[in-house]
Amino acid sequence: MEFFEVVRKRRSIRKFQNKEVPDKLIEKILEAAFYSPSSRNRRPWHFVVVKDRELIKKLSETRPAVKFLETAPLAIVVGGDEQISSAWIYDCSIAAEHIQLAATALGLGACWGHIHERMHDDNKTAEDYVRELLGIPKNIRILCIIGIGYPAEEKPEHRKDEIMWERVHLNRFGNHLK
Ligand SMILES: Cc1cc2nc3c(=O)[nH]c(=O)nc-3n(C[C@H](O)[C@H](O)[C@H](O)COP(=O)(O)O)c2cc1C
Repeated sequence: MEFFEVVRKRRSIRKFQNKEVPDKLIEKILEAAFYSPSSRNRRPWHFVVVKDRELIKKLSETRPAVKFLETAPLAIVVGGDEQISSAWIYDCSIAAEHIQLAATALGLGACWGHIHERMHDDNKTAEDYVRELLGIPKNIRILCIIGIGYPAEEKPEHRKDEIMWERVHLNRFGNHLK
């Protein structure tokens, strides 16, 4: 798939078919993640590939916004080592998007489930809930969980009328390009 087709077709898919994602495709997705740029090329990423349905079910209970994970056959937890880079959030965000674009290019659907700075309940952060569930050490900060699978919902691709030309400024703010 050509680049612009991939970015047009990428939509947040939250319902998945009951069908495993082959390991070869998982490896392609991770390949794309590792080609991401990172601040000072520190590459602080850690990816926890979760295929165990019981664990995915428990991940879906982290917070209501990630409940959609419950039908996903694959979840990739995206984290970064804060001892390696203070820019881990940016680096992980880019890797998370590479993962979603790669999934789209491979005919899969994906959606970002947010974890960082969110709560599991009144006492526990979403990050600590996921950390305890998967045995992730303290220095690995968790940004999000990307749910991935064969889509069980269809969404229209992005359209040109989503381009907010009024938000584009030429040379000086307020001077519009178009
Ligand atoms: C930083 C970030 C956090 C997000 N968190 C969630 C989330 O917790 N749960 C969810 O269902 N979608 C989440 N999304 C997906 C957005 O809702 C989605 O990208 C947006 O509605 C635009 O739709 P599209 O991805 O289909 O273009 C998140 C996206 C981003 C970039």
